[in-house]
Amino acid sequence: MFAERLRNAMNSRGLKQVDLVHAAEHRGVKMGKSHISQYVAGKTMPREDVLEFLASELDVDMNWLRGEESTTQLNSDASNSVTDGEHAATPLATGASKPQTDSEIPVGRRRTFGKSHKLDNVLYDVRGPVADEAMRMEANGTHILKLNIGNPAPFGFRTPDEVVYDMAHQLTDTEGYSPSKGLFSARKAIMQYAQLKNIPNVTIDDIYTGNGVSELINLSMSALLDTGDEVLVPSPDYPLWTACVNLAGGTAVHYLCDEQSEWYPDIDDIRSKITSNTKAIVIINPNNPTGALYPKEVLQQIVDIAREHQLIIFSDEIYDRLVMDGLQHISIASMAPDLFCVTFSGLSKSHMIAGYRIGWMILSGNKRIAKDYIEGLNMLANMRMCSNVPAQSVVQTALGGHQSVNDYIVPGGRVHDQRDLVYDMLNQIPGITAVKPKAAFYIFPKIDVKRFNIHSDEQFALDLLHDKHILISHGGAFNWHRPDHFRVVYLPRMGMLRETMGEISDFFSYYWQS
Ligand SMILES: Cc1ncc(COP(=O)(O)O)c(C=O)c1O
Repeated sequence: MFAERLRNAMNSRGLKQVDLVHAAEHRGVKMGKSHISQYVAGKTMPREDVLEFLASELDVDMNWLRGEESTTQLNSDASNSVTDGEHAATPLATGASKPQTDSEIPVGRRRTFGKSHKLDNVLYDVRGPVADEAMRMEANGTHILKLNIGNPAPFGFRTPDEVVYDMAHQLTDTEGYSPSKGLFSARKAIMQYAQLKNIPNVTIDDIYTGNGVSELINLSMSALLDTGDEVLVPSPDYPLWTACVNLAGGTAVHYLCDEQSEWYPDIDDIRSKITSNTKAIVIINPNNPTGALYPKEVLQQIVDIAREHQLIIFSDEIYDRLVMDGLQHISIASMAPDLFCVTFSGLSKSHMIAGYRIGWMILSGNKRIAKDYIEGLNMLANMRMCSNVPAQSVVQTALGGHQSVNDYIVPGGRVHDQRDLVYDMLNQIPGITAVKPKAAFYIFPKIDVKRFNIHSDEQFALDLLHDKHILISHGGAFNWHRPDHFRVVYLPRMGMLRETMGEISDFFSYYWQS
């Protein structure tokens, strides 16, 4: 009973175990990570002082939290915030002739506000508890090297001067809303880009700009999904996809990408996961977190499956201009003129302007079958007015002329050489193996979990953070269901990267997870 009430109260207040550990530390209460996880799992009961602390932190009655049946049902029946509200309303609505201050309302009858149950299946751990812990350490003066987010600017990747100049010159012209899908000039440039990528049947009306690809992932899933609809999403994935499918009321069904085959999607696994409820398949190509680039044969097999089962193809191609080793990126939509496809890209990575927030999606192929869905997309695009207009104003500049990103991805270029260094150094660590990334700026190494006794990848990430002040993302954050991977962002310069890889190597020379 105690564990259940504890979990409910934590959920309703949006508190994670790590939050309570920090609060305890702050209030001088002795309660560590292992204690709280035992309480939550129902394995042990806390001491009285810890129980008192938990009750006060969660704003519930201590006896109720302890599990006593006779206690009044209090606001801590956190699974139902309506009940909370009713209880909270009673003292105010009835007898009270004067308004009560928060401290006058009995503990346990105070109204609290929990997050929506729509978020129950939503995970975004790239910025989750481990990153929270890193922020806390930073706030206490510890310098943390952050290899957890693909954010080029802090690592010295500068926006091309021409882009900044052009945005500055257009600022006064971009004060108002634009049409909801975006400025004509921006969409025209994107349309021409789609032509170069052989994406068929694209008019200017089929292009939507967004505040980054992120906004459009959310919008495209919200407009499509009803409860029970299934969408095939890769594992590992860029977790926003899974999060947005689930937030929209659908179910993300994960298909495996196979490390033994360059991290390509496992076609048999995809086939085995299709049901009558499957509406769409998502591919991320080039891939985050693995750095894979899918060849034509693999894309053809995915198109064949989508054709056979009448699926929409959503293709996230935000890294399509960060491809190395002389390889070519192919847009899957170019191979599927008879299917309905939605292709996503943007300038966050290729033009190092992640902070300006500009991305787009392109509808292509057989749009007739998606007429009603497109109405839904238009409705949601209208409701958010438009995307950031100053950022739209540089799309034409960015997509035309000299592409400075090309200098980064060839031998001697930063992204290329940093990729080689990280790949070599990680593979030299006993117990670590990594597939060489072909694109983007991520690598997803495998850990021999037996060698290090790793049973929790999140704990591994926390231990690395505490010992070495290096923040990586654990594999679980990418919907990878074994504790045997982590993702490194290889954006830092060579010197820093060499030092960091050395530290990671040292960490693995002694690490044994307790
Ligand atoms: C695969 C993938 N898609 C989309 C995004 C979001 O990009 P944006 O900055 O355009 O929202 C990211 C960001 O890391 C990503 O890795």
